[in-house]
Amino acid sequence: SRFFAVVPAAGVGKRMGSDTPKQYLPLLGKTVIEYTLTTLLAEPLLERIIVTTSPEDNRWRSLALLSDPRIDVVAGGAERCHSVLNGLQHLSSQANKEDWVLVHDVARPCIAGSDIKQLIADLSSHAVGGILAVPMSDTVKQVDGKTITSTVDRSLLWRAQTPQMFRYQLLLESLSAGIEQGLSITDEASAIELAGYQAEVVEAMSANIKITRPEDLALAEHYLKKES
Ligand code: CTP
Ligand code: MG
Repeated sequence: SRFFAVVPAAGVGKRMGSDTPKQYLPLLGKTVIEYTLTTLLAEPLLERIIVTTSPEDNRWRSLALLSDPRIDVVAGGAERCHSVLNGLQHLSSQANKEDWVLVHDVARPCIAGSDIKQLIADLSSHAVGGILAVPMSDTVKQVDGKTITSTVDRSLLWRAQTPQMFRYQLLLESLSAGIEQGLSITDEASAIELAGYQAEVVEAMSANIKITRPEDLALAEHYLKKES
């Protein structure tokens, strides 16, 4: 089977509070989206990378990297799940049922190429797919108001990241069905779970933070410096 990527990049970055959407903010002189796409382009198994941007956004046009022949830019949607669905639909004439799609947030520029390779290696013979994730390191409390009601068994908890890698047809159908039913779909795995399939976790070995708030920029620069 073949491998494709969808990169949701149509967000406005409300929590970042910057006029410029966070994917276009600079880190050590290069924009967030350029780091993310450079790492994905370095994985030769990825045949095409579909980047979904907001229809009002023209910033990507001035970035030379976005005219790479393996990259297609298509319109995103109102929420992340709609952006991903648009990206998947764009692949309908190229991707077969059993092919793989790796969905990766543009806002995770520190993703290591080695973690992408590990995800692919661990899941390639799986029927459904799975996600990069990290086991929870903090003790987790269930809270009612401010009163602790219990301590959650930490060994059962992992923090979900991207890429999330699934069989093309399963993901397309699960995501469409979840959206149609008005379910809350925060990542691809949640759509897969709601559709009744079982996905796996693959442990991420390097920092793969999602840039969300202003303080994350310095943290991302720290990790990118360490990598290079
Ligand atoms: N995203 C998208 N389409 C949307 C909303 C989000 O493609 N309608 C993308 C973002 O560009 C980002 C990823 O989904 O790469 C994860 O979303 P998040 O970190 O929440 O980014 P934003 O939605 O831009 O940020 P915020 O929620 O703070 O507004
Ligand atoms: Mg958001």
